[in-house]
Amino acid sequence: MSTPDEMGLTPDAALGYEQFFVPAIFHQWPAKIISAAAIMENDDVLDVGCGTGALTREVVKCAGSATGFDLSESMLGVARQACPTVTFQQGNVAELPFDNSSFDAVVSAFMLMFVPDPKQAVGQMQRVLRPGGRVVAGIWQGLDNNPVYDALVESTREVVDDQSADSMAWPFTMGDIGKLEDIFNVDGLSDISVTPHDGYAEFPSVEDLVGVEIQAWLLADSVSAAQIKEIAAKLRRKYSDFANIDGPIRFPLNAFIVRAVSG
Ligand SMILES: C[S@@+](CC[C@H](N)C(=O)[O-])C[C@H]1O[C@@H](n2cnc3c(N)ncnc32)[C@H](O)[C@@H]1O
Repeated sequence: MSTPDEMGLTPDAALGYEQFFVPAIFHQWPAKIISAAAIMENDDVLDVGCGTGALTREVVKCAGSATGFDLSESMLGVARQACPTVTFQQGNVAELPFDNSSFDAVVSAFMLMFVPDPKQAVGQMQRVLRPGGRVVAGIWQGLDNNPVYDALVESTREVVDDQSADSMAWPFTMGDIGKLEDIFNVDGLSDISVTPHDGYAEFPSVEDLVGVEIQAWLLADSVSAAQIKEIAAKLRRKYSDFANIDGPIRFPLNAFIVRAVSG
């Protein structure tokens, strides 16, 4: 059995993330983040919380190169295999191991909600930016504006337990414009904007969505196939658009893009 890394992730979990979550959810956000960061050829760009490199790979296409940075060696292992020519470095955003004023842009997709002190993390991102450099982050909107996940969290609470439901809700806990403006209000950053963006997710079926969330996100081996079916049935009742769908689903999954400029 493989050993979990500092993020509690194994190489298998990282492969699961790349195989299931990137095509279902994350693949559509790099273009929006790159556009907000106005990345140009030869820019020095840091992707913080790069995971398996979904955003880093797209940055390389625009800038010519990029540095990917993540706490999880398991995620970085997948990223390095997918993109052997890119520099991927392990570490914690709380202490970025880069000199002041090293980058033209720092980008980050769906990472800040996992960091104990996000304001301090944003301070680190600002520190490594050159004057005029841009920081851009993707952050999920709250469950109030992501109704399928809201229904999924509550169905999981009813069938499994509070802890599993709260873990599933965790990525959506930072989706508040005032909270985000405060987090990015650090010395040296100005022109802070928080823009809502409509996104979507696609899964082969309602059962697949539930199974992937339980097995590849919660890593909950103890949840049985029968419980997954029960959660899916409850989700169909709570989110009536799914009531009669047995095949592929596509549903709204909305995020904010936060942007600020250094100096
Ligand atoms: C939901 S994934 C997003 C990955 C990638 N940005 C994407 O769009 O697919 C969040 C990532 O943040 C990383 N992460 C969490 N806390 C971190 C920290 N303190 N420092 C650096 N990376 C961190 C995790 O290891 C994980 O790879």
